[in-house]
Amino acid sequence: MKYLKIIFAVITLFVFVGCNTTEKNARIVEDFNSDWKFKLGDFPEAIDSTFDTDNWRNLNLPHDWSIEGAFSEEHPAKPEGGALPTGVAWYRKAFKLPENFQNKSISIEFDGVYRKSEVWINGHYLGIRPNGYISFAYELTKHLNYGEQENIIAVKVDNSEQANSRWYSGSGIYRNVRLVVAEKLHVAHWGTYVTTPEVSEEKASVNLEITLENETSLDKNYKITSTILNADFIEIASSTSEENINKNSVKTTTQKFEVLKPNLWDTKNPYLYKIVTKVYEDSKLVDNYETPLGLRYFNFDAEKGFSLNDVSTKIHGVCLHHDNGALGAVANYSAIKRKLQIMKNMGVNAIRVSHNPSSLELLQLCDKMGFIVQVEAFDVWKKKKLKADYSMYWDEWHKQDLEDFVKRDRNYPSVMMWSIGNEIREQFDSTGVAMTRELVNIVKTLDKTRPVTCALTENIPEKNFIYQSGALDLLGFNYKHKDYYDFPEKFKGEKILASESVSALETRGHYDFPSDSIKRWPSAHNVAFDGNDDFTVSAYDQVSAYWGATHEENWKTVKKLDYIAGQFIWTGFDYIGEPIPYPYPARSSYFGVVDLAGFPKDVYYMYQSEWTNKDVLHVFPHWNWKDGQDVDVWAYYNNADEVELLLNGKSLGVKSKQNDDLHVSWRVPFQSGTIKAISRKNGKIVLEKEVHTAGNASEIELITDKETIKNDNYDLVYVTVNVLDENGNLVPQANNLIKFEVTGGGKIVGVDNGYQANLSSFKASKIKTYNGKCLVIIQSNGNVEDITLKATSSNKIKASIVQIKIDKKQ
Ligand code: GAL
Repeated sequence: MKYLKIIFAVITLFVFVGCNTTEKNARIVEDFNSDWKFKLGDFPEAIDSTFDTDNWRNLNLPHDWSIEGAFSEEHPAKPEGGALPTGVAWYRKAFKLPENFQNKSISIEFDGVYRKSEVWINGHYLGIRPNGYISFAYELTKHLNYGEQENIIAVKVDNSEQANSRWYSGSGIYRNVRLVVAEKLHVAHWGTYVTTPEVSEEKASVNLEITLENETSLDKNYKITSTILNADFIEIASSTSEENINKNSVKTTTQKFEVLKPNLWDTKNPYLYKIVTKVYEDSKLVDNYETPLGLRYFNFDAEKGFSLNDVSTKIHGVCLHHDNGALGAVANYSAIKRKLQIMKNMGVNAIRVSHNPSSLELLQLCDKMGFIVQVEAFDVWKKKKLKADYSMYWDEWHKQDLEDFVKRDRNYPSVMMWSIGNEIREQFDSTGVAMTRELVNIVKTLDKTRPVTCALTENIPEKNFIYQSGALDLLGFNYKHKDYYDFPEKFKGEKILASESVSALETRGHYDFPSDSIKRWPSAHNVAFDGNDDFTVSAYDQVSAYWGATHEENWKTVKKLDYIAGQFIWTGFDYIGEPIPYPYPARSSYFGVVDLAGFPKDVYYMYQSEWTNKDVLHVFPHWNWKDGQDVDVWAYYNNADEVELLLNGKSLGVKSKQNDDLHVSWRVPFQSGTIKAISRKNGKIVLEKEVHTAGNASEIELITDKETIKNDNYDLVYVTVNVLDENGNLVPQANNLIKFEVTGGGKIVGVDNGYQANLSSFKASKIKTYNGKCLVIIQSNGNVEDITLKATSSNKIKASIVQIKIDKKQ
């Protein structure tokens, strides 16, 4: 009965929107995420409309079933893939369409399904997409029912071929799904392409290619008007053309515009315009379509590196995998926004989407928040890295996938580089030459306005066949920062970027002494990592993979070489999978500057001190050690000449960074109490920071990342949970079990503590703090009552309550 009601609600919505087809919404783009049925296992009969799904689970998309599972090293994805279950599952949705949709063109859009999805509508097969990151759409029109008769869409997701990913992939329909209802004469899927052949402070010229599709059996005349709106929605340029199109055909029209005194897009002021295209038949609006627009120009130079709008700009980038920590692969706007905001606050100005097509939300947010983006198509070509990776589909699918990737992403102004691959095996043999040329050609046929690059590892020119193809516009090199000095000689005249760098390893809040001994993993072939029993790695920036470097070693090099356009650090955030250097139970990576829960590791502040102008003084470690033990105290700082350190009021001396130093440090015999750091410029205090010895755990502190939440079933609030002593100090090694209860308009969708070997569930409503901290993520459940979150622990620790208001404005 409940199910019927839901269907009724869907019809009502369609009828409502349908009847109100005004100028604004000739095209209906319907969120199609709610009320799906789901079941793990293989159910080929589920394509049949009579199939009974009563015992299937109800859920809303986006959904990742792997993240709901229990960790085990036996899972076929292995710890490298996150040690979570994969397999096969089906999704199914019933929906009705109003009679007056009979003459429309109706399609379904999937932003990403991991992986090998197959889709049926009312028993008709629509297609297969093996690539788990690619966006795709199917037209449904021919097979639909209208009025009282239901439609059944069934999706099989097959992530059983393992191992197929070097990192956690997630499983399921983990990105958004939309239903698009258009007239039969409409702008095609990804049907606009905007370029800006000339941009200066004075004026910008803008070209918009619009591809129209006429699905009727009549030749048509139509009028097409496109208008550029500025960020205040004011029309600033417009173009109209009268055209005709043959029956059952596709036609591309180009419109041209000029924008005087444009507001240029850059990373500090990411000014966005948009283009609204309207298609009229006679005087009736038959379609409307929006294209993002940012006016910027950029250049890579073999000597001077990168510039944006003629301003020399070092690329301070990070690589990011697609998982959103405790949410798994689920693409969620607020989760991605938080991730990017944490990166922005660190001083990051660029993102490399490693190593696959991204979610749409990531690109929309990079446009809005001002990040330079390198999008990347593949981690393998035809030569495999893993038994069941994408190489098995290469021959049949690479052309289509690469074209779809470019067509979808070529309108985002933040996107400035196309990467055709990461550490591709074909760089080592001569097949790489022809393959690179083929792929570059596919990209350039669709977009010539951005350089094509590839993340390479072989830096002997004669041995690198991808380089030998001569087809790349920009060379990306992964690691080996000491070799950068030879690049101008070896790769004469080439534009160069450190497409991947660092691969240092750290666990938040864990410190090993002495801090100045640098450790590589592995130290030699087949030698296990000489690590800690609890699978931790020191947070002193003193451990790295042997192919990489510590953060400081690497940044010192990149900083001084102008011809290196910049770098993408491996990685901004820890991600699930690839738990190098440890075996299971380690199950997520140690590479992040920020841990999986979003809590910065100390080295975050080194970057902040180098990459931002805000005053920084960060002193660590915590101050709970054994009496007399030698403790290394480090400070990252900027905007000051010196830092003084005091222990219990007694000065331990003033230090300042010498030469290319990036921190100052003191070796201090431990004494409980307070260490205090003071940074000074010209004798004047810039900042002061204190760290106190903490007592026993006494209370829970809850800090929300925002005060209100939208009641839209998507919005998230991230709540940081700190265990404090009675004086309000973080208890640095607290590992107390915290239980959460939520009432009102929210539900718990994830918990985490950032510890790479934590095997408790991300989906529980309790978790132990790790080094004093944990995180709970609350999502709107659509109700309008304000949310109350209660956190409790043992009797000795005071419980805590926080309220989150529902934002009723939206
Ligand atoms: C790189 C690779 C990344 C990741 C990293 C770990 O070689 O491109 O995907 O595996 O190593 O250090």
